[in-house]
Amino acid sequence: MKALLLSGGSGSRLRPLTFTGAKQLIPVANKPILFYAIESIRDAGIRDIGIVLGATGDEVRSMVGDGSQWGVHITYIQQDAPRGLAHAVQLAEPFIGTEPFLMFLGDNMIQDDVRPFVKDFENHRCNALVLLSEVLEPQRFGVAVLSEGRLVGLVEKPKNPPSNLALVGVYVFDHHIFDSIKKIQPSWRGELEITDAIQQLMDDGLDVDYRTVDGWWKDIGKPEDILDANRVILERIPATIQGSLDDQSSVAGRVQVEIGATIVNSVIRGPAIIGQGARIENAYVGPYTSICPNVQVLNSEIENSIVLENTVIRDIETRIDGSLIGKNASITASEARPRTIRLVLGDQSRAEVR
Ligand code: DAU
Repeated sequence: MKALLLSGGSGSRLRPLTFTGAKQLIPVANKPILFYAIESIRDAGIRDIGIVLGATGDEVRSMVGDGSQWGVHITYIQQDAPRGLAHAVQLAEPFIGTEPFLMFLGDNMIQDDVRPFVKDFENHRCNALVLLSEVLEPQRFGVAVLSEGRLVGLVEKPKNPPSNLALVGVYVFDHHIFDSIKKIQPSWRGELEITDAIQQLMDDGLDVDYRTVDGWWKDIGKPEDILDANRVILERIPATIQGSLDDQSSVAGRVQVEIGATIVNSVIRGPAIIGQGARIENAYVGPYTSICPNVQVLNSEIENSIVLENTVIRDIETRIDGSLIGKNASITASEARPRTIRLVLGDQSRAEVR
C-alpha cells in the first residue's frame, strides 16, 4: 500500500506564522507537525509516500528530502492552488495507480497507531474506511451521520451538525475514489471536497465503513491547537540533558535539553524542551514550553508557549504565557522615555498587553 500525505493549502488561520512558511512545518515539541505524520505512516508499514505540495513546496522539499531519514521513499506532487482535498487526490492518481492507499492530512496529529486501521481495511476490503472522533465543535469539520451504528452520510462543515462525530484526516481508499471525484462539483468554498467524494461512493452503493479513534487527535487549524498539541506531546518526551547546565541552575520534571543548549542561573520546570544552541540565562522556563534551536531567553520568564528559531526574549518583567512566537523575532525591554510599548508586528499578529 502507498500513502498520500497532503501538505498544500494556504494555512490562512495561522497567519502571520504561515506568511513565510508552511503550517505543516510549524514545530510541536521542536519537531515539524508533518514529521509526526510521516512517522505514523512509516509505523503503519508503508514505505512509498506521495506528498502533495502547494505554494510552500520548496520549504517542505528541503526539510523532508527524499525520505531516507525515516527509511521511506518520497514522491512530490505539485498542486497549483488549494483546489481541495479531492483535487489533490485526483492529481495523485498517476502516483497511486490502482492499489488502495492511505491518505493522511499533513496538519493532523493522531495518537493512535494507524496500523490496525490499515490492517482492518485489508482484511475487510470495503471501498473506503474513514476515522471518526467525537469533537466539541463539529461545525469546523466533516461530520458523519450514523443510523443504528451504520454510516449513512457525511457533510462538510455543516452549520447545524447532525452529530458530534468529526472526520479525522486519515482515510483508506480503493481506486473507486477516483471515479467519485470525477462526479462531484466544487463546494461553496470553491474546493473539491473529499467528504463529497466519499458521500458519492455511498450514493453509488459502494461500501464505506468507519472506525472511531480512542486516543487524542488534533487538526492544527488555529494557534491554540498548536499549543494544545505541544502540551500533549511534551507530556511524552523522554527526559534527557545533553546541553550544559551550571551549578546555579535547576531542572525539574520531564525536560529535554538538547546538545549545545546552555542553561545559566535558571530554573527549567518540565515538561519542556530546549533546542540545540539555545541560551537560557537568569530565566525561568515553565511547564509546556518548547524553545527551538538558537533561541535566547535572558532575564525573562516564560511558560506554556512555543518560541521558534533564533528569537531573542530579553529583560521582560511579566511572565510570558500561552504564546506562539515566530522565527527571528525580538522581544526586549526598553529604558527609553516615554514608557511606551513599541511593536513591529506582521499582518494578523495578536499581542495582548497591559
Ligand atoms: O482535519 C480534519 C478535517 O480536514 C476533516 O474533518 C474535513 O472533513 C476535511 O475537509 C479537512 O478539513 P480542513 O478544512 O481542516 O482542511 P484543510 O483545508 O485544513 O486541509 C487539510 C490538509 O490538506 C492541510 O495539510 C492542507 C492540505 N491541502 C488542503 C487543500 C484545500 C492540500 O494539500 N491541498 C488542498 O487543496
